[in-house]
Amino acid sequence: MKFFVWLLVGAVMIGASDNLYDKGKKIYFSKGCNGCHGVNAKGLGEYPGLAYRPKSFLTYKLQRYRTKIADTQQAQLMIPFAQGLSDAQIQTITTFLSEYHEEASHDKNENTSRGDGGS
Ligand code: HEC
Repeated sequence: MKFFVWLLVGAVMIGASDNLYDKGKKIYFSKGCNGCHGVNAKGLGEYPGLAYRPKSFLTYKLQRYRTKIADTQQAQLMIPFAQGLSDAQIQTITTFLSEYHEEASHDKNENTSRGDGGS
């Protein structure tokens, strides 16, 4: 029985590469990364864009922040956010960012003020 469970886990993991993108996207939003880096991950104001950047670069940066190394005072903001990420989450989130592709729904919502958010 245990063997079957592991087979299943293996099969799920093989299929998971497709899902990494979606998982990474969920983490990106659930961890609040969008608050500074934007809903399209293209950056906001002084916060850098992350979409389309090489996975190796993003991974390197996040791992560095996680060990509390920030090259600028501004970048120290990243330390608590990076510390909330596991290795697996860094892996998924950097997949999402490096393979980023536009989604129609996001584009439509961007820069429009209509909707019921008018509080
Ligand atoms: C409070 C605002 C804020 C939040 C939230 C935030 N970041 Fe950042 N992020 C920054 C700042 C500031 C920098 C550093 C910019 C610099 O080096 O000048 C940065 C840099 C980065 C970099 C390196 C980019 C580069 O060009 O050097 C990555 C990768 C990154 N953030 C990923 C994330 C991820 C993933 C999350 C969510 C877990 C996240 N950030 C949440 C503010 C934020």
